Amino acid sequence: MSICYLNGNFENLNQAKISPLDRGFLFGDSLYEVMVSTKGNIFKLNLHLERLQRNIEELDYKIPKEIDLGQILQEIVLKNKHINQIVYLQISRGVDKVRNHIPSEDITPTIFIYSHQMEYKFELSSGEKAILVEDYRWRKSKIKATSLLANVLCRIQSKQEGVFEAILHENKNVTEGAVSNVFFCKDNLIKTPPTSQNILPGVTRAVILEILNKNNISCMEENFTTSQLKTADEIWVTNTTKGIIPIIELDGKKVGSGKPGKYYKRVAKLFLNELKLS
Ligand code: PDD
Repeated sequence: MSICYLNGNFENLNQAKISPLDRGFLFGDSLYEVMVSTKGNIFKLNLHLERLQRNIEELDYKIPKEIDLGQILQEIVLKNKHINQIVYLQISRGVDKVRNHIPSEDITPTIFIYSHQMEYKFELSSGEKAILVEDYRWRKSKIKATSLLANVLCRIQSKQEGVFEAILHENKNVTEGAVSNVFFCKDNLIKTPPTSQNILPGVTRAVILEILNKNNISCMEENFTTSQLKTADEIWVTNTTKGIIPIIELDGKKVGSGKPGKYYKRVAKLFLNELKLS
């Protein structure tokens, strides 16, 4: 039985109820965060909360001051007891009296948090496949909003094509993955698109950038094209639930040697150490 938090109460997940007039349901007017916890600690909780706070301000959600999201998240992890968990938080603008694009003035956000056991084991990967897909999402992908229909369609397409991830591009300019950020390595220089692009500023991306800087591995936040990506020595995709994954085949063609590269191995080990230490 999984315990969740919904609007001030801890309750069984299968008994939790939300109004169909919730704006998250009607309009996708809601934010989310996905985190992992290992041995009771949420990895980079502060970075997730900082991103969430920026998004709350951007969308002008009115969260009551007394609500301590960090503490509720920790409590959920304690209550659900699994050693490793995926923790999900969603905040919608709230429930309206009637459906209206314009929210009512006195609306209170709906806050929902739950967690479940994480089956995935963080370890060195033998590599995955990806495809390139035109990025047809909206212009504010930096907001971690639940209106993810375009991402969902890209994920369905990647499943149908038997690959791990869809790497998105806007007019041949690489943006990010459907559920990940992208890194590219060529001639000993690593690049990832800057956050001024229409991408989500990933927590894992930030952690990897810090690891690269600390270890004097050359890295730049710079745009690159799909043609450049096709000539990469290494490609990695990163996110909270999978960590760092090497892409060894892009659109049916080998990336570099067709095996996880030397930078991947080095950076992934450093990342895994950090995850265990957290
Ligand atoms: N998504 N870009 C997109 C579009 C994403 O959906 C995600 C992660 C990332 C990586 O962000 P982070 O490193 O903070 O997880 C980048 C989560 C895992 C999800 O939607 O389930």
